Amino acid sequence: MPFDSGRPEMNAEEFRLLRDFVYAYCGILVRDDMKYVMQRRLWPRLEALGLNDFASYYRYLRFDAQRRAELDTAIEALTTHETYFFREPRQLKAFSQEVLPVLERRNARLRRLRLWSAGCSSGEEAYTLAMLLKESGRFEGWDVEVHGSDISRRVLAAARQGEYGPSALRATSAEQLARYFTQIGPNRVRVREDIRAWVTFGHHNLQDTEHGTSSPRVDAVFCRNVLIYFDTPARQRVLKLLYDRLVPGGYLMLGHSENLINLSADFELVHLRGDLVYRRPELGGWNP
Ligand SMILES: C[S@@+](CC[C@H](N)C(=O)[O-])C[C@H]1O[C@@H](n2cnc3c(N)ncnc32)[C@H](O)[C@@H]1O
Repeated sequence: MPFDSGRPEMNAEEFRLLRDFVYAYCGILVRDDMKYVMQRRLWPRLEALGLNDFASYYRYLRFDAQRRAELDTAIEALTTHETYFFREPRQLKAFSQEVLPVLERRNARLRRLRLWSAGCSSGEEAYTLAMLLKESGRFEGWDVEVHGSDISRRVLAAARQGEYGPSALRATSAEQLARYFTQIGPNRVRVREDIRAWVTFGHHNLQDTEHGTSSPRVDAVFCRNVLIYFDTPARQRVLKLLYDRLVPGGYLMLGHSENLINLSADFELVHLRGDLVYRRPELGGWNP
């Protein structure tokens, strides 16, 4: 007898409805071969709500008074939040050594720096950036903000908490551990206050193009390992949004397996000594 007998199967029509609904909401494309993954991840929701089939679940997501909260839960079940501190060190080193000096020079008059971790998951990336800023010694006394945003409220709550275990720290050296964290339990650390003071978190769906258009522009955005979950039109929508939110000359950092080939011609490729990064061109085409 199959392990999941007694639970309703998701038929092809239900899969199509739910897949299109998820895609329209957050740009995440559930591939055809992932029907069983979707079915398995959403079964607990049918059980929790006392629903007999996926068509009822689809109607619930569309029409029920509680549908917003349930949509968050469904997205939660379907997204991957894999992340850790100091992820992709080569890029971070290039950012610290070659991009931060440019941003320091450029913003010296205002003494203000804005970084954005778009799709920040549980906050490791945003805190890592604040740690790099601190380590550079360039921005003390400046008005600094590293903003982390994500579609998942659950990971944002963890990010605000700022407490982590071994898996988040797998690429963190003993020295970094001592410098930026406080031990709060045998296997648990907390990000130190001086780092936390530079970091904020907020809910943002990157497919919601209306959202945040009036927010201040940022000097650099890290949107790493997020585009991989989207199809081409959804990636293009995000890139347009990131372009608009960057200052002219601002930097875009993608994950190491991501690039803009066939997606956007708006950004220029910058050859740093240690890595390749993207940049929104300066007005008039001047780039220091
Ligand atoms: C694999 S994690 C990447 C975390 C971090 N940027 C890193 O590279 O370590 C991808 C994150 O993107 C978020 N995400 C997926 N779709 C999103 C959307 N439409 N808007 C905002 N965040 C989204 C997920 O919730 C997840 O936390």
